[in-house]
Amino acid sequence: MTYEHLFSPVSLGAFHLANRIVLAPMTRNRATPDGVPFEYVADYYSQRASGGLLISEATAISKQGSGYPVIPGIWTEKQVEAWSKITKSVHDAGGKILCQLWHTGRIAHSSLVGGQPVSSSAVAPNLEVFTAAFEKVQAETPRELTIAEIKQVVADYKIGAECAKAAGFDGVELHGANGYLIDQFLRDGVNRRTDEYGGSIENRQRFALEVLGAVIDVWGADRVGIRLSPFGAFDDMSDSDPLNNFVTILQSLKALNLAFVHFAFVTGVNEPDALKTFRDVYGHSIITNGAYSGATAEADLEAGLTDATAFGVPFLANPDLPERLKSGAQLNEANPATFYGGTEIGFTDYPTLAAS
Ligand SMILES: Cc1cc2nc3c(=O)[nH]c(=O)nc-3n(C[C@H](O)[C@H](O)[C@H](O)COP(=O)(O)O)c2cc1C
Repeated sequence: MTYEHLFSPVSLGAFHLANRIVLAPMTRNRATPDGVPFEYVADYYSQRASGGLLISEATAISKQGSGYPVIPGIWTEKQVEAWSKITKSVHDAGGKILCQLWHTGRIAHSSLVGGQPVSSSAVAPNLEVFTAAFEKVQAETPRELTIAEIKQVVADYKIGAECAKAAGFDGVELHGANGYLIDQFLRDGVNRRTDEYGGSIENRQRFALEVLGAVIDVWGADRVGIRLSPFGAFDDMSDSDPLNNFVTILQSLKALNLAFVHFAFVTGVNEPDALKTFRDVYGHSIITNGAYSGATAEADLEAGLTDATAFGVPFLANPDLPERLKSGAQLNEANPATFYGGTEIGFTDYPTLAAS
């Protein structure tokens, strides 16, 4: 296959991509307990700099938002210093990298976030979470954020956005997917509030829009994207009417002129035509993701369903994924045992074609 579309350049807002292959954000738990990414994380990202755009692993904006052990953060000087080296190594290798800003909300243990986890509502997820000591325990019931606290979290996102800028990132992606805090506001499976942040979808999207506003103040809309997972059930998430709710959300996002909206797993599930519906409603640039191969990515691009494709596991295991797709080479297999935590093994040692 020639992959004519996959290897054509595209502009998403202010980001000019040499190809349509995006590194999907992937948590790798290679940081200190204070959220400082290890030095060799720079190698992991710079090895993948041939992707048109790299999105960092989800990166916490505050201690309260750091619900997993040894994930990186972006609110202290030490974290900014470490990320600066990573962004420099990506830029030196000719790449572009965004910081995925994260607040885990109720997907957290009190031993990690310095107190009872918080969420839109006091609804416990029915799943196990990790403690600071890496034990798996049943999740606690979170505390409902007060309105004053919601404003504080929005301010924390702004600090995260400023720190991402200070660290030399090219822009930011808000993690609005996969059952974390923004999703916990968006979706009525969790959000039971009766104030202006709950009830109707117009109210449930208020938090996401306020966070976007704060982050846009720092970066400008053309350097900001948001990731959404309209049909995702990950992290015990649910929604009574995802298709219509996300149509409404996309109508609101349309007015913001963001760099992109990034869908994690929008196709399949019970709504085979959802991507087309969302594409038509939104009308601006999108990135799609989820179990893509080079061939299916090319097909969606050719059909005009998307503007760029994010690859997760295939890019994790193949630092030279663009080159491999282009040349039709076989892909390395990923080793899930080294996904979350550990060392350089299973992180920076996947061979390139040239090395194998
Ligand atoms: C190890 C691992 C870590 C992940 N961490 C994140 C994350 O930090 N943020 C996020 O939005 N999605 C995360 N995801 C989801 C991926 O971005 C992606 O949606 C998923 O892997 C499906 O894409 P793929 O089929 O190309 O792998 C993670 C997935 C994996 C495998």
